[in-house]
Amino acid sequence: METRSLGTTGPRVSALGLGCMGMSALYGDADRAESVATIHAALEAGVTLLDTGDFYGMGHNEMLIGEALRSAPAARRERALTSVKFGALRGPDGSWSGYDGRPAAVRNFAAYSLQRLGVDHIDVYRVARVDPDVPIEETVGAIAELVEKGHVRHIGLSEVGAETVRRAAATAPIADLQIEYSLISRGIEDEILPAVRELGIGVTAYGVLSRGLISGHFARDRTLAANDFRAMSPRFQGDNLRHNLDLVEALRATARNKGVTVAQCAIAWVLSRGEDIVPLVGARRRDRLTEALGALDVTLDAADLAAIEEAVPAGAAAGDRYPAAQMAHLDSER
Ligand SMILES: NC(=O)c1ccc[n+]([C@@H]2O[C@H](COP(=O)([O-])OP(=O)(O)OC[C@H]3O[C@@H](n4cnc5c(N)ncnc54)[C@H](OP(=O)(O)O)[C@@H]3O)[C@@H](O)[C@H]2O)c1
Repeated sequence: METRSLGTTGPRVSALGLGCMGMSALYGDADRAESVATIHAALEAGVTLLDTGDFYGMGHNEMLIGEALRSAPAARRERALTSVKFGALRGPDGSWSGYDGRPAAVRNFAAYSLQRLGVDHIDVYRVARVDPDVPIEETVGAIAELVEKGHVRHIGLSEVGAETVRRAAATAPIADLQIEYSLISRGIEDEILPAVRELGIGVTAYGVLSRGLISGHFARDRTLAANDFRAMSPRFQGDNLRHNLDLVEALRATARNKGVTVAQCAIAWVLSRGEDIVPLVGARRRDRLTEALGALDVTLDAADLAAIEEAVPAGAAAGDRYPAAQMAHLDSER
């Protein structure tokens, strides 16, 4: 599989990473056996980057990845790289109660993640959201100490703005910034992308299918479980949903002309944005994974890109990408 570098200091990884969140949380029920089979199929296809967060199902996602790694052939397991987010605080009822980026908490989170994953180091470690009470230098400095001790290989960032990227990069080498980027979430293009490029920091893009909204598979009348993030997401509500799915129909016509699926078109568009960008795909079934990997074979020329942009112009989506309370936690949206 094609590979790309996570910035100038990070590892070389498969051009598409597998985001495992939906296998444990936030998108309704998932099938455990199919999730493990999907991770195995991804490793077999040459995917090396597995993304998770310790708070995805309160440790469930890390244990699932640990199980999949243990039961994978040794050669594939050894090529796998883990990208882990920490910092989100949860309650026993699944509630969210803020972020903790204090150095003592960073060490504590890492100790538990290593155990749950069953690995002796984490390849890329990042705070999910900036703790407003802890300077980013302290949080990144604590990860840098874990790097020195061999528990972590590289430092990443998540959903931070250009100023925070600069402060973090002045503290320690940063491999990548993980941030939402898709045809309908292009907010990074003005300031954040130029800043990470200037600093030699890569991007792992999430939400490339906008959580399924622009996958071409999201039905207008789909009922979402109360614990599904999308039941609260502004882009999936009422008129916003209708408008956004109209954009998808325009994209479907463009994809059809190209002989690819809507999801492949959307993923290929993110891949086309630069060699420094690695899309994470949230496949949790093998058929979805196969479709997503097909995007690697899609070459978009100038006419294709123009047609895609005409179908889904920048800024065309209706609704914010997170509910207001969660938008307030995004350093990247300040
Ligand atoms: N740093 C952050 O703040 C942050 C935030 C969110 C996520 N992430 C990471 O990014 C990863 C990607 O998650 P995402 O929600 O952004 O993923 P996504 O790829 O935008 O969306 C995944 C959703 O798309 C649907 N889908 C339909 N066709 C698909 C296909 N061919 N391939 C893949 N998915 C398809 C899946 O639905 P069905 O399963 O119902 O078919 C799934 O619900 C997560 O797993 C997580 O690791 C990071």
